[in-house]
Amino acid sequence: MNGPLRHARHLIRVAALFVGLFVVFLFAKAALVPKDFGLYGHYRPSALAANTTRELSYAGRAACVDCHSDVEESRKGSKHARIGCEACHGPLARHAADPGAQAPVKPDPRAFCLGCHAQNVARPATFKQVDAEHAQGEPCSTCHGPHAPEKGPKP
Ligand code: HEC
Ligand code: HEC
Ligand code: HEC
Ligand code: HEC
Repeated sequence: MNGPLRHARHLIRVAALFVGLFVVFLFAKAALVPKDFGLYGHYRPSALAANTTRELSYAGRAACVDCHSDVEESRKGSKHARIGCEACHGPLARHAADPGAQAPVKPDPRAFCLGCHAQNVARPATFKQVDAEHAQGEPCSTCHGPHAPEKGPKP
């Protein structure tokens, strides 16, 4: 072959390669993407059913209050009243379903409180923070009951 088209076969090879790879891509996509993906949106509807069969970790504070209404009573009006029980005690769904089945964590009131209250410039200035000296070596609970900390030690 002569003339301006004499190099066309190079282009044809490259084009054939692209078409070949595209076909491979289509097969791979058909094989790998789950059948129901995209049925209602950019997700797999059967994932919803699969997730509902997983064991719950958190019970939610309404469940805790059913049995521990005394604690909820002591939190009333306190700055901590809005914090979820399990934010401090950890996930306790099994304990809530059967109190004997899971022993709740009682956070160590020496180190634990500083996780939220230690001085940190990244926190909003309105959020009350203390330095380590504030506790004078005592656990925070010596002076602040954890459920209503601004009302002094737990009665
Ligand atoms: C069905 C009733 C019930 C529910 C719901 C329940 N608890 Fe309890 N909880 C108990 C009983 C019973 C005990 C053991 C007796 C006791 O120390 O008061 C206990 C003990 C505890 C203790 C103290 C453990 C200790 O070492 O003294 C904590 C903390 C606790 N529960 C937190 C929670 C939290 C947080 C929730 C919500 C996720 C919750 N509980 C839900 C019944 C329940
Ligand atoms: C700010 C963190 C925090 C929150 C929120 C919190 N607790 Fe506690 N709770 C503690 C700490 C710390 C202790 C351990 C006190 C100690 O050892 O002196 C404790 C102890 C307990 C105990 C053991 C008995 C007692 O009074 O010492 C129970 C029961 C309990 N919490 C239930 C709850 C429930 C129910 C909620 C939600 C309504 C809740 N807590 C919310 C930090 C928290
Ligand atoms: C999950 C984060 C968290 C943990 C853990 C926590 N706190 Fe708090 N604390 C808060 C929030 C949120 C407030 C309320 C801030 C507000 O509304 O201004 C607060 C308020 C307080 C206040 C009242 C400050 C004031 O405005 O007068 C004291 C005191 C306090 N906490 C002590 C403690 C102690 C002691 C512990 C450990 C038992 C503790 N906190 C654990 C989040 C936390
Ligand atoms: C020896 C007693 C004592 C101990 C221990 C103690 N506090 Fe306090 N704390 C106080 C007193 C008293 C106040 C009130 C001071 C005030 O209103 O100016 C206070 C105030 C606070 C405040 C509010 C600060 C503010 O700017 O208004 C926070 C938050 C706090 N404490 C957290 C803690 C934490 C976290 C621990 C444990 C690391 C702890 N405290 C240990 C006595 C104590």
